[in-house]
Amino acid sequence: MSEDLKRKAAEAAMGEVRSGMRIGLGTGSTAKHFVDLLGAEVAKGFECLCVPTSEVTAAQAKSLSIPLTTLEEIDSLDVTIDGADEIDAQFRLIKGGGGALLREKIVAAASAKMVVIADESKLVETLGAYPLPIEINLFGQAATERAILQVMNAHGAQGGKTLRRKADGEPYFTDGGHLIIDASFGRISDAEAISRALLDIPGVVQHGLFIGLCSEAYLATASGTLKLSD
Ligand code: A5P
Repeated sequence: MSEDLKRKAAEAAMGEVRSGMRIGLGTGSTAKHFVDLLGAEVAKGFECLCVPTSEVTAAQAKSLSIPLTTLEEIDSLDVTIDGADEIDAQFRLIKGGGGALLREKIVAAASAKMVVIADESKLVETLGAYPLPIEINLFGQAATERAILQVMNAHGAQGGKTLRRKADGEPYFTDGGHLIIDASFGRISDAEAISRALLDIPGVVQHGLFIGLCSEAYLATASGTLKLSD
């Protein structure tokens, strides 16, 4: 997706925030544009209190003097603006391409509203072409991977592959100190059942299927930005 379209989606989502709001800040290249735009408003006197969904976003927000807080200090947020790897017509998402899915889900769940910003290519008929990021505990990782493969086999992804995420040839660690397995389902036909089955695996910390969290999306296209609401 071009930077221009990411920026356009982020600009559209600026209409969702008002001075005085508590805002969840997403992670990824599209959310980065939103944080930049918010920072520019803060410099002009816009007031907000924000919870970042990753160390990277926290560093960006701090560099722009965006006031940050935590979910220890406040108990809810007005809105979270975040990117997505896939979104379907029921506003179900795949997230975690950038590795921040656990904090992203915690922050989205603490928000009255979650708004996705993306380009139209992220809108899919059926989730699953994008490999599903699954955050797992270090301990027993091989057993957890086998259990994930069993879930894939039981849910129509026979032959689907799992890949332990790497960064520069080394295991990739999330902000929470966990690993990520990217699971190529190909097609996620029953997202709710797969979500539950994955969460039943003891070594799974969280997965990137976001169900019932997002209710609005700004999807940038070459000819304008579409607003989708449920
Ligand atoms: C971060 O962990 C992810 O959930 C991102 O929000 C998602 O991968 C979208 O990223 P881009 O905006 O960079 O495509």
